[in-house]
Amino acid sequence: MTVVDDSIPVITVDGPTASGKGTVAHRVADELGFHYLDSGALYRLTALASARHGIDPDDVSALAVLAETLDVRFRDQRIWLAGEDVTDAIRAEAIGNRASSIAVHKAVRQALRALQRGFKTAPGLVADGRDMGTVIFPEADLKVFLTATPQARAERRYKQLIEKGFSANIDSLMLDLEARDARDRTRAEAPLRPAEGARVLDTSGLNVDQAVAQVLEWFAQVQYPQGA
Ligand code: C5P
Repeated sequence: MTVVDDSIPVITVDGPTASGKGTVAHRVADELGFHYLDSGALYRLTALASARHGIDPDDVSALAVLAETLDVRFRDQRIWLAGEDVTDAIRAEAIGNRASSIAVHKAVRQALRALQRGFKTAPGLVADGRDMGTVIFPEADLKVFLTATPQARAERRYKQLIEKGFSANIDSLMLDLEARDARDRTRAEAPLRPAEGARVLDTSGLNVDQAVAQVLEWFAQVQYPQGA
């Protein structure tokens, strides 16, 4: 039985690729002085480690063992895998696509569950991903689901990749993004969908400040309901 500590507040921010959830969730965590969990990074780390070990994306038991024993450290905004700084390496599109392929496996998702729950420590947590509100933190105080048009998301991803020194092409990014979304939405295990009671925010026409302000306003509303 899972013992749920309800005294530690949790905000979940789920949504499709490049909907802005990472940037928004990170900023909200900073504003509130909360911890931040980038759950996609764990799937990307498993993907990178599996590629390096030559593990097939369908070898479920080898992948689950790898996920369960990931030697990962998050420090100073950098991500370390077995002592190597892989912060930029895990952002490559090929690793994102491989992450999406291995994320369909129930055993892999279960192997990463405890690691994710471990991020729930005082004074609070903002967690972003695909199933933060539906599966990993169903008790969250506030659940947000971010969306944006495929065009807006492809443009964002293009900018992110170019800034990190990767080459990119908008049209092929859009195709990749739609294929990845389709896989994330239609998989049997923890499909991408808004959690019950989630507040949906379309970020297509919003800048980061506006999206962050909206999430903080919603959080203030749940913390201090009118009339309470
Ligand atoms: O968010 P990001 O693009 O880094 O995630 C990479 C992939 O990992 C996603 O396409 C998705 O398939 C998977 N993922 C997941 N559940 C999460 C976070 C990411 O299945 N909570």
